[in-house]
Amino acid sequence: MSETSSHGGTPVSQVLDRVLVLEMVRVTEAAAINAAKLIGRGDEKAADQAAVEAMRAALNELYMDGTVVIGEGERDEAPMLFIGEKVGSAIGTGPRIDIALDPLEGTTITAKAGPNALAVLAIAEEGCLLNAPDVYMEKLAVGPGYPEGVIDLDKSPSENVKAVAKAKGVEPADIIVCVLDRPRHTALIAELRALGCGVQLIPDGDVAGVIATTNDDTTIDLYMGSGGAPEGVLAAAALRCVGGQFKGRLLFRNEDEKARARKWGITDLNKQYDLSELAKGDCIFAATGVTDGSLLAGVKRRKDGTLTTESVVMRASSGTVRWVKGEHRKPG
Ligand code: FBP
Repeated sequence: MSETSSHGGTPVSQVLDRVLVLEMVRVTEAAAINAAKLIGRGDEKAADQAAVEAMRAALNELYMDGTVVIGEGERDEAPMLFIGEKVGSAIGTGPRIDIALDPLEGTTITAKAGPNALAVLAIAEEGCLLNAPDVYMEKLAVGPGYPEGVIDLDKSPSENVKAVAKAKGVEPADIIVCVLDRPRHTALIAELRALGCGVQLIPDGDVAGVIATTNDDTTIDLYMGSGGAPEGVLAAAALRCVGGQFKGRLLFRNEDEKARARKWGITDLNKQYDLSELAKGDCIFAATGVTDGSLLAGVKRRKDGTLTTESVVMRASSGTVRWVKGEHRKPG
């Protein structure tokens, strides 16, 4: 089923070859365009619902036997795109694809018209994406070009900053760290500021926050802190394609959350996951901007009604990153 590519020895998936990479962009574009109608309208649920409906319809047009492994939640709490939902036009006959999705990453951002809301999707061959329960994940990420193992969740934030600073040839005070602005990160932020680091606080949207470490223009060196585990798998899929290092560890607040993890076959609840354990083999990551952000511009409407979108789609086996600008004109 797989052959080896020149890109870090990542196997090329024949299964994924049969699903056009660019088709993924049509799926995230559809979700972003529908969600964009709700930007700044103060209604998170409606924005999410709009994205979900459009993404589901677009996925169902693709020739594949798809299974949502990271989705909107479990069947009883999510009417659509729930974990285990089958999508695609060739269920039982087409290529078997696992899908991690977040039709609207940044529901609150969208409702408030803030920056960095995205429609996001990652696909891989069956069994290649971690079936992460909807719990928190401790995350640590650094961009490409650093020695393997430079970051480690078993080390303190200060030790990680110092290791990255040393590898970069700068002082710890020159390091910029992106962190979700949450009360639970008060001690982390204080520790980073005591080192003199720049701390970029984001209101939401840690998929974009993690990917920002891979882009020199953002000046962000490291991503630290806890956020959703599903978003962790999506961010890991992106870093598998563009390079960089990511460590994740599931965080459980109660026995119910632990039971959920066991249900998905996770036995070591304290495991530190590496990139290739979160998204292994060949995978494709796609995102379209809903609102303007560090990664992508948001959906815009021109005077003549044309909608413009900006998307990125990348593939692990080839390392190809395609930036796609879409102009969606009204027919006729
Ligand atoms: P939603 O799109 O579901 O609102 O998620 C936004 C987000 O900021 C994620 O990027 C992040 O992983 C998670 O929420 C953090 O959760 P919390 O808001 O509970 O800190």
